[in-house]
Amino acid sequence: MTRSSEVKLPEEVPAHVAIIMDGNGRWARKRGLPRLAGHRAGVENLRRILEASAEFGIKYLTIYAFSTENWERPAAEVRGLINILEDVIDQELETLHQNGVQLRHLGRLERLGTELQEKVRHAIELTNNNQQLILNVAWNYGGRDEIVHAIQRMIEDGLKPEDVTEERVSEYLYTSKCPDPDLIIRTSGEMRVSNFLIWQGAYSEWYVTPTYWPEFGPDELLKALHEYAQRERRYGRISDPIKTN
Ligand code: IPE
Ligand code: IPE
Ligand code: MG
Repeated sequence: MTRSSEVKLPEEVPAHVAIIMDGNGRWARKRGLPRLAGHRAGVENLRRILEASAEFGIKYLTIYAFSTENWERPAAEVRGLINILEDVIDQELETLHQNGVQLRHLGRLERLGTELQEKVRHAIELTNNNQQLILNVAWNYGGRDEIVHAIQRMIEDGLKPEDVTEERVSEYLYTSKCPDPDLIIRTSGEMRVSNFLIWQGAYSEWYVTPTYWPEFGPDELLKALHEYAQRERRYGRISDPIKTN
């Protein structure tokens, strides 16, 4: 797909976009389909969004695929989501690699089977030098769990209280090699954080759309980028100290 000729990009494109891919279940229900059909449609959409993200010049894309709380869903849905993760690695890894996508994982792998853990590790190693797009996959990820994990590792490493700075904490998070997200998108209209990037998102811009994830296509992503470009990121300061004096 090349859309470049039709696409009008804003002057400033965020380097790091993070997405809470929500609404798969409701998308399926609307069509009288099982929830897993919604998750599969969500993966189809992810393919489109990945392609569009690279084309729009986004450098880092973080996707929330499975939260630490999602284990509380019915066992069949959890199993289905694990199967989808495995299928995506089996079927898409080669293409992702060829397209220069570098895969990283945010979260804990422990609760996945050893074979699947190996597949994830292999995917990360294989794509380690790719630079076209860094794709962080948040799977069995929770922001609170991430902070607990970081504190545990800092204690293990024998850090002294004065060594614990904001920069140091950031280095111990799963996103250590990644800038904070500039823009966080949530589909399906929910206006909550749901334990996503609670440290890194301290000053991210938010974009919430009622569209369900399987229908959130490249055009809507572009709309979000244009809206982001209109925002004024003040970080607690005021916009123009001279004018407002
Ligand atoms: C998001 O869609 C995908 C995951 C959380 C795995 P949902 O499954 O939460 O869809 P809704 O919110 O029930 O519509
Ligand atoms: C957040 O969606 C997690 C993912 C998209 C993976 P949820 O659907 O699980 O969030 P809540 O439960 O509505 O807050
Ligand atoms: Mg949901």
